[in-house]
Amino acid sequence: VLHPALEQAARLIREVPDFPEPGILFRDISPLLADGEAFAAVVTALGDGLEFDVVAGVEARGFLLGAAVAHARGTGVVGLRKPGKLPEVADRVDYQLEYGSASLELPAATISAGQRVLVVDDVLATGGTLRAACELLGRAGAKVVASSVVLELTALGGRDRVDSDVQALLAV
Ligand code: PRP
Repeated sequence: VLHPALEQAARLIREVPDFPEPGILFRDISPLLADGEAFAAVVTALGDGLEFDVVAGVEARGFLLGAAVAHARGTGVVGLRKPGKLPEVADRVDYQLEYGSASLELPAATISAGQRVLVVDDVLATGGTLRAACELLGRAGAKVVASSVVLELTALGGRDRVDSDVQALLAV
């Protein structure tokens, strides 16, 4: 059974057909983030019950969620970035998306070996993004305690590609 606030939050997720490519049904959590109660509900639930030293948020919507979770829990936050944005890159992982290919980069001087990291993103689709995030953090010597997302698209089986535990607040 879902917490009523999460149920309400789920109603604010929009389905956008044919974005960013024909045939892809994009799930947009922007209206959920814009609603105070829904935002509070997901921020409280992400990483709930888990102990971690730092949050890693995945560009771009994972930044908004990850920073809020980190602040609520009193940890720092690291942005895992698309290529070409960082002045100093510690490491990079290339991966396949549901549509095309992508890369994630870890900023220099952020993660130390042995740190327990909570990875946060908005949506788990094919799992390529979270898989890459876990690989990046693992190579840095961190321990990913879980990858937490607001919404899991279960039909794509992405959870099986992610090497960490996966915590999904909502699933379709
Ligand atoms: C979306 C979403 C996840 C990723 C999930 O990001 O925010 O990061 O795709 O897909 P996967 O499980 O198949 O890897 P998007 O590429 O739309 O980037 P954005 O957040 O910067 O818009």
